[in-house]
Amino acid sequence: MASARLRCQLFLFTVLLMAAVTSGAKLSRSYYSRTCPKLESVVRNKVNQLINADRGMAPGLLRLHFHDCFVRGCDGSVLLDSSSNSGEKDAPPNAGSLRGFAEVDAIKALVENTCPGVVSCADILALAARDAVVKVGGRYWSVPLGRKDGFVTSLVEANTSLPSPFMTFDELVQNFAAVGLNTKDMVILSGGHTIGQAHCAVVIPRLYNFNGVTGATDPSLDPTYADFLRTLCPSDQPLTFIGEMDATNGTFDNKYFKAVKSNKGLFTSDAALLTNSFGARIVNKAARNPQSFFSDFGNSMVKMGKIGVLTGSRGEVRRVCSAVNSF
Ligand code: HEM
Ligand SMILES: *[C@@H]1O[C@H](CO)[C@@H](O)[C@H](O)[C@H]1NC(C)=O
Ligand SMILES: *[C@@H]1O[C@H](CO)[C@@H](O)[C@H](O)[C@H]1NC(C)=O
Repeated sequence: MASARLRCQLFLFTVLLMAAVTSGAKLSRSYYSRTCPKLESVVRNKVNQLINADRGMAPGLLRLHFHDCFVRGCDGSVLLDSSSNSGEKDAPPNAGSLRGFAEVDAIKALVENTCPGVVSCADILALAARDAVVKVGGRYWSVPLGRKDGFVTSLVEANTSLPSPFMTFDELVQNFAAVGLNTKDMVILSGGHTIGQAHCAVVIPRLYNFNGVTGATDPSLDPTYADFLRTLCPSDQPLTFIGEMDATNGTFDNKYFKAVKSNKGLFTSDAALLTNSFGARIVNKAARNPQSFFSDFGNSMVKMGKIGVLTGSRGEVRRVCSAVNSF
């Protein structure tokens, strides 16, 4: 009896502890309502202006928040310059492909003009990602706030924590589970690939050297689409860009899932979503029902935005996003 009760209490304690660790219980939608009431409109107006000037900023800002959260939590660590080429910016998954750093610095400068020393860079990334999605056709979600900025950025951690485009379904599931996201989150958030660009390097092995066999093409890739990709990406041009990943013109919609469904997912990791029956069910539903995709995407973004956050007295509010404050 007594030991059963003890076990029950232990279980409850563990559940509560896990909830506290993973839910980011201290984030709040009204965190800045007294200290920076204009924050959301300042960020939104600037994001809209940046995207009007360069539509590629929409995918750029979305991906920055994702890459921030997967490495040391959503703590702005991706924004820190590294003094000796050892920071996240210089990690292979980021170097030469993340974009929007100068633009985030510009948003931060405006926010500092409005409310000096109050708003973290990590929160600015979360808001900018949401505003970017909305600006190019996605649906609004409200963003819990109150993150603090971290002090550390690590190339090695970025290289080991971020998912690779060559991963299988099970590897992707494990990679997301390591930061508290489930299989559905993984599939739904992959829908971020409805906007943005990629380097040919990511698809060249699928087009010319599948499984290490010279001349072989990944059979899970639609043959007509493979022909098209070969015209965009000659085998010796890894640095060439493939424009829109789902070929729908930079609009945030559910066309990514239609593309994946018809074997036109660009990366191995996109095609992998169909190789598992649960994954395929989520892909099919998102492809059929844009409204359910939009609402799922917002929910998973909120979850992603709570990964490993620093709150309260942990972390700081950086004055500029590219460097920790000096005391
Ligand atoms: C599921 C695992 C994922 C893998 C393996 C992956 C991998 C990649 C790769 C390789 C690129 C192209 C980089 C380049 O060649 O320049 C890319 C681009 C992009 N990814 Fe992902 N990604 C994943 C999940 C996500 C998630 C969760 C989001 C956001 C919710 C996201 C948003 C984007 C965006 C917006 C771009 C385009 C960036 C730009 O145009 O600047 N990805 N991703
Ligand atoms: C990044 O990780 C890959 C694969 O795990 C490894 O081969 C590569 O050497 C690493 N690169 C750096 C710069 O650490
Ligand atoms: C591309 O997107 C723009 C802006 O949303 C839109 O006005 C235009 O009609 C689109 N073009 C095509 C070919 O879909």
